[in-house]
Amino acid sequence: MIQNPFQYGAVVRGPFFADRKAELLELTREMASLGRVFLISPRRYGKTSLLANLLDRLREEGLATAYIDLNAYPDLRSFAAAFTHLTSRALESSTDKLLKIFAGLQRLRPKVSVGPDGALSGSLEVAMGEKEVLPALLEGMRHAEALAKKTKRNLVVVIDEFSDLEKYNGRSVEKALRAEIQQQGSIGYVFSGSEESVMLSMVRDRNRAFFKLGRIMELGPIGRKEYGDFICGWLRKGAYKAKREDLEAILELGRDVPLNIQRLCHTLWERARESGKITPSLIGELPFIVARQDSPHFELLWHTASPQQKLLLMALSKEPDAKPFSRDFQITHGIGPSSSIKASLDSLVKRGILCRGKNGSYQFSDVFMLYWIQSMQQT
Ligand SMILES: Nc1ncnc2c1ncn2[C@@H]1O[C@H](COP(=O)(O)OP(=O)(O)OP(=O)(O)O)[C@@H](O)[C@H]1O
Ligand SMILES: [Mg+2]
Repeated sequence: MIQNPFQYGAVVRGPFFADRKAELLELTREMASLGRVFLISPRRYGKTSLLANLLDRLREEGLATAYIDLNAYPDLRSFAAAFTHLTSRALESSTDKLLKIFAGLQRLRPKVSVGPDGALSGSLEVAMGEKEVLPALLEGMRHAEALAKKTKRNLVVVIDEFSDLEKYNGRSVEKALRAEIQQQGSIGYVFSGSEESVMLSMVRDRNRAFFKLGRIMELGPIGRKEYGDFICGWLRKGAYKAKREDLEAILELGRDVPLNIQRLCHTLWERARESGKITPSLIGELPFIVARQDSPHFELLWHTASPQQKLLLMALSKEPDAKPFSRDFQITHGIGPSSSIKASLDSLVKRGILCRGKNGSYQFSDVFMLYWIQSMQQT
């Protein structure tokens, strides 16, 4: 029996990565001409996985690549060191040469460590006071450009969770970055982020430094036909008996969010292992099975909600696409008035339990919480 091909929770690569062919092609072309792209999508749509597959492909084509997740760098000091280290390492693979390069930097100091196998590896730290941190980043960026020129290789830098840049306190960082990037001729960039409003205002607001620095690419859901083919293909390989048209329901249940769909399919693969049969009723059970697996997490959230908020969540679990401010909805579920609903919604959005959807609706950030509340009401 082959291993469960529907992976979730980490980056998915190669044969386990569904579709995104058009997006990969577009990004590959953009990076071949060293463009600057802002990649934006709701959470869990697969940006990080798409970028990992992009970088794999670009490396195969001979480009140097660096991936930097701003989440991993709490302050500008650590980001400056990481940027310089990762871009240098992308362009120079010999540790000896790398350490020589590091030694030539003015504001960054090499840190050498010895691995368990005795091999030396080098990284960097900013050795100066607070005022020198931004100049250190700029030195690192200039250095990356110079090294790319010297080694005659083009470099692609991905900065993931880019909306986190705001935490480095200040528009001066944004401005300096923009000015530096505009002077570079050997480096392409993808800036990727999920906080749509933050990302969009960084790029679309005339007063912000990244205004029109590059093009925006909004990542939508994976096409249903393509995702359906991917799921069907793996199920056939696993010798499961499934009807193609029944599988559509999985995309619907997962609300077209790749992470949800992967979880549903992963569960389906395990549940149907013995019988090998995939039926519509089994598919219908899947979200409830996942909701049960995650129930400790949902219980915790539930306990911190007020009675008002609980009533609202229960109503929304019955009518997920309703507009909570409509009279019909309030009368049907015996909740209101609008002012208290607004307070509840604001608090639930702030805590990440709900998010604003289209046309005045509110959606569960995690669709499985909706099923968890539904099943709680049934027992
Ligand atoms: N093309 C794909 N094929 C298969 N699974 C995918 C695909 N894209 C995303 N996924 C699933 O979704 C999960 C989340 O993907 P990923 O972390 O790449 O998304 P993201 O948009 O970067 O999320 P976040 O907003 O949290 O950073 C993956 O672990 C995987 O299970
Ligand atoms: Mg991500």
